[in-house]
Amino acid sequence: METNLNINFAGIELKNPVLTASGTFGYGYELADLIPLSELGGIVTKTITLEPRGGNSQPRIAEVESGILNTIGLQNIGVKAFIEEPLERLNKIGVPIIVSIAGAKTSEYIELAEILSRQDGVSAIELNLSCPNLKKKIICHDLCLVSEIVSGVKNVSKVPVIAKLSPLVTDIVEIALTAQNSGADGVTLANTYPAMAIDVEMFKPKLSTFKGGVSGSCIKPISVRCVYDAYQSIRVPIIGCGGIVTGEDAVEFILAGATVVSVGSSSLISPKNLMKIVYGIKNILERKNINSLKDIIGIVSKNL
Ligand SMILES: Cc1cc2nc3c(=O)[nH]c(=O)nc-3n(C[C@H](O)[C@H](O)[C@H](O)COP(=O)(O)O)c2cc1C
Repeated sequence: METNLNINFAGIELKNPVLTASGTFGYGYELADLIPLSELGGIVTKTITLEPRGGNSQPRIAEVESGILNTIGLQNIGVKAFIEEPLERLNKIGVPIIVSIAGAKTSEYIELAEILSRQDGVSAIELNLSCPNLKKKIICHDLCLVSEIVSGVKNVSKVPVIAKLSPLVTDIVEIALTAQNSGADGVTLANTYPAMAIDVEMFKPKLSTFKGGVSGSCIKPISVRCVYDAYQSIRVPIIGCGGIVTGEDAVEFILAGATVVSVGSSSLISPKNLMKIVYGIKNILERKNINSLKDIIGIVSKNL
């Protein structure tokens, strides 16, 4: 029997579990010449805000050991322009499109979800509750705010709502449970870690905002642990994210409890890696005679 990578995430049918991670794949259509976008499990767009944002000043990317430090600051063209062009193009690809959104206050999240969830081709909304690169504190650090935003958005949204959480919290389980109990249909674990790097020749921080978010291989074990911990307590599905470069990395997240994965920094190095990850997962399942991805989700906990 052929190994089946099909998977259902929060009611959305995906042909495989590999998604792009927000902010690391443009709006989602620009790399069509480099990889067959229709072969992806799904596309998570750059985070969209109500008004266009120029983002933070340069320098806003720095390489660190086994990772990337960024302070992009949610640069995007705003929801109106996003619907006019990128969304039109994304609709033609034929894979589920998850639109990431962020607001300066709860009412902005609600307004964005109301507009976007009614657009053709939007399969789900991902709430970015975890951006480390804004002047305000990370939303995830305030449980009341997480609850207010998730329930407010859920009230108006026509499509599933996914809460993207920060790994830098005292108790990931408490926050994931708060998101779930406020109505989230899934959670993404996790965003980047607040971090810093300093240029010792210049005696200056490497980023304009001094601190940013670190991603890539160096955060993988921490994000796998977040997924494992949350999986023990929540019943909604998890998008595992953080440092996935190979099929093995993706399977590690799935064994810990993720239903699907999203891939960020590794596509900045080579977008073709996304397809290598799909084939890598398939190879592992075939080697182990496993027909369906569903059979291995969270299996590490089940083996306890
Ligand atoms: C350059 C860059 C821009 C990002 N922009 C966003 C964003 O707009 N919204 C968001 O939710 N996450 C954003 N992220 C975080 C990624 O989606 C992902 O959660 C994180 O990088 C961890 O995954 P990775 O280690 O595979 O990169 C960004 C990450 C990078 C490196």
